[in-house]
Amino acid sequence: MRRLLGLGLLLPCVFLFVLGCKREAPKDPQVGNLVLSLPESQHDTAYSPDCISKLTVDGKDFSEPRATKRTLVVTPAAGMSEVKVEFSFWPQKYTNIIRTKIVTLVKDKATEVDMTKEDPDNPDLIKPIYVPTPNEIVAAMCKLGKIGADDVVYDIGCGDGRLVIQAVKDFGAKKGVGIDIDPELVKKCWANAKKDGVTAKVEFSTQNALEIKSFADASVVLLYVGEDLNLKLKPVLQKTLKTGSRVVSHRFLMGDDWPPDETKTISAKNNAGEEAVYKLHLWTIK
Ligand SMILES: C[S@@+](CC[C@H](N)C(=O)[O-])C[C@H]1O[C@@H](n2cnc3c(N)ncnc32)[C@H](O)[C@@H]1O
Repeated sequence: MRRLLGLGLLLPCVFLFVLGCKREAPKDPQVGNLVLSLPESQHDTAYSPDCISKLTVDGKDFSEPRATKRTLVVTPAAGMSEVKVEFSFWPQKYTNIIRTKIVTLVKDKATEVDMTKEDPDNPDLIKPIYVPTPNEIVAAMCKLGKIGADDVVYDIGCGDGRLVIQAVKDFGAKKGVGIDIDPELVKKCWANAKKDGVTAKVEFSTQNALEIKSFADASVVLLYVGEDLNLKLKPVLQKTLKTGSRVVSHRFLMGDDWPPDETKTISAKNNAGEEAVYKLHLWTIK
């Protein structure tokens, strides 16, 4: 009986001790809890091998389990109270967005971090994947943009350079400028320009489209970069392009507040040689 009574008193004490230890856990000033809200992501590695979300904190991988609400216990570097949270996600299977936030941890407190919204101090990196426009559609884009001898033609996210090369070679544009974030593609652009004998009339460089502050030199801007990047480029295009300049976008629009002046629907062979339907949009700067 006495043994039973002793056990009855001991068990609650053990329970309270364990509970107390649990509460003590985040007392270390270097340890903080992060409560993250993450945007939805596509996971379609069959379409693009990289199309899967990745979450890191100070470079450490926390990708699993892939969910929109996550709670993590993280330890900042010695002497630091901040951590860098990076979430790489796919709003659609053709665009990768890399979102970064610097978060200050508070001792013994859960810190809520909303990764569903961009941090204006750390702009998103927006990266549509490489899919070349079929040559027949490139020609249709040049026609829709009324490219001629007086034009300086930009392609933002220029891939292998085919839009700019065709603009100067077949439509007589006086200059073509292509920029792409992928240095290997930029090398390909130069090789293609050399093959087509137009190196004197073109410029290609490796650059993030979101770092371009002005399109004042361009009279035509050609785009095939997805709606997320289009929407980011829109204010710079509207503010810096000269009156009369044209923007031609393969497939993607510029949001409800900037509808295209003209849309063309064209049937042509896709890159696999099958018949497909394409939409091209034209805006003229007023
Ligand atoms: C759909 S492809 C279009 C290629 C080419 N304009 C065409 O129509 O054939 C999109 C291109 O944008 C490039 N790109 C992705 N993100 C970029 C960024 N932030 N800045 C510049 N180029 C980017 C990719 O490397 C890719 O070559």
